[in-house]
Amino acid sequence: MSDNITASAQRPAWWRHGVIYQLYVRSFADANGDGIGDLNGIAARLDHIAGLGVDGVWLNPCYPSPNRDGGYDVADYTVIDERYGGMPAFEALRDAAHARGLKLLMDLVPNHCSSQHAWFRRAVAAGPGSDERARFIFRDGRGPGGSQPPNNWRSTFGGPAWTRLTAPDGEPEQWYLHSFDASQPDFNWANPQVADMFDEVLRTWFDRGVDGFRIDVAYAMVKHPDLPDLDDPAGDNPYLWNQPGVHEIFRRWRALADGYGRELALVGEVWLPPAEAADYIRPGELHQVFNFDLLQQSFDAREFRTSITDCVDALKHAEGVPAWTLNSHDVHRAVTRYGLTDPEPLNTADANALRTRARGAVDVQLGIKRARAALLLMLALPGAAYLYQGEELGLPEVQDLPDDARQDPIWERSGGTEHGRDGSRVPLPWRADAPNFGFTLATQNEADHATAPTTTPPWLPQPAWFADYCVDRQDADPESVLAFYRRALGERRHLDPDAPLVWLEIQREDAIAFRRGQYVCATVFDGPPIDAPAEWGQAVISSGTPGGTTTTTWYRADS
Ligand code: NOJ
Ligand code: CA
Repeated sequence: MSDNITASAQRPAWWRHGVIYQLYVRSFADANGDGIGDLNGIAARLDHIAGLGVDGVWLNPCYPSPNRDGGYDVADYTVIDERYGGMPAFEALRDAAHARGLKLLMDLVPNHCSSQHAWFRRAVAAGPGSDERARFIFRDGRGPGGSQPPNNWRSTFGGPAWTRLTAPDGEPEQWYLHSFDASQPDFNWANPQVADMFDEVLRTWFDRGVDGFRIDVAYAMVKHPDLPDLDDPAGDNPYLWNQPGVHEIFRRWRALADGYGRELALVGEVWLPPAEAADYIRPGELHQVFNFDLLQQSFDAREFRTSITDCVDALKHAEGVPAWTLNSHDVHRAVTRYGLTDPEPLNTADANALRTRARGAVDVQLGIKRARAALLLMLALPGAAYLYQGEELGLPEVQDLPDDARQDPIWERSGGTEHGRDGSRVPLPWRADAPNFGFTLATQNEADHATAPTTTPPWLPQPAWFADYCVDRQDADPESVLAFYRRALGERRHLDPDAPLVWLEIQREDAIAFRRGQYVCATVFDGPPIDAPAEWGQAVISSGTPGGTTTTTWYRADS
């Protein structure tokens, strides 16, 4: 049996076309009433996920962590944090997911750990020049007394990428590199102990039955050995991102995964233009690489067509597939991005943030129409697709969180000028009339909710307007966003995963159309309705009025 084709069904491996639902664990469902989502909460609500018609889930990090960066500051890679239910809850969720035929992906964070990780604590204690420090990137400072950072790199979250340690006697000593928050020291991947440790982490979770990993900042682990100064510290950092040596790590992990003989998947978080991102899915490397280019485009026919073309063209040397996505825990929700009527300038050095986290006044109805159209278009593209919890409810970004509730380190490190990412991480609304909108399950039996004891408020406050988006309000309404997602994912199952994308020249600047096998997918951005030629067949699903303005429609010739 080859890795790409399952012998029995002759269907391509699931990861070539699967749809994965991203679970921001803290915000999905809270089973024990402490205001923090957990794995038992997910297990209790697994029917919602399975009912969407997805192929699997990806859990954002749920390992022990001081939680300075939403769990991307991992203190122990080998177990589940007790706050999320610990290992028993993991095993129960894994089994429940597998029983429904859902794949389970974990989040792997190999670029950095938490400053509370045992290795970093030992490195701090062991002092300069020690083997323990050689697992991280420690350097002496520059200038008199070493008071200046070793180079001029900036942290992605704002401020310098270096923090200086203070010895127990109060004397300042070496600096360590952190591409993100100061609580997230970068590993030194030139040290073979680091690679060995992560091999063990992969094996630990594969042995426990997980089906793959989403790899955090997969293009950052290898740094230029000289750590040179940047000409423009506010611009891109080519010495940190996308160093060629990083591909060696993925070849090693791919071989490790292939050794299991199951259909495992490795998906890389790589914020690079499509041509460079495609390098990560060359033969023998990752199975999937996120395509973040599309979600950085405005809702515009030309921008979408160019972005999709760039990605599809870049696949010529690839063996893996693109993982399309329009939402995540790192960007403003699509409804808000597409509905912004009056974007305010954003104060950030992070180029990706500029296009994905603008804030300002929003026309929510327009945003929802466009987000529905973009979703149906995305689901027609060749490759895998990722959904982010809450997008199936049409949730807008929560832009009006009280400042004192914000937890994203970006807020603090930007001196309160950038809101950061909390607004897409607000706990989900399930039931309009229940405490915490049903985010907190009073018991495992939801019917008891009315008699729930007072519950702890969710870790981020839910706005009153969340009532309009609750699952229970949308469940029975065929016009709801939720019902649309279910229909769209159902129709996608009939798409031939191997059918190539062929553009159809429809002579319109405000609309695009392409063929995938029996289907034609046509999107009218903001122009007049489309005149669908008879050979496209019947409209089988539409994000709005078939063929209408701000709508995607799928046509099928043989239906
Ligand atoms: C990307 C993750 O998605 C984001 O949430 C995190 O802050 C950074 N990597 C650092 O781990
Ligand atoms: Ca909880």
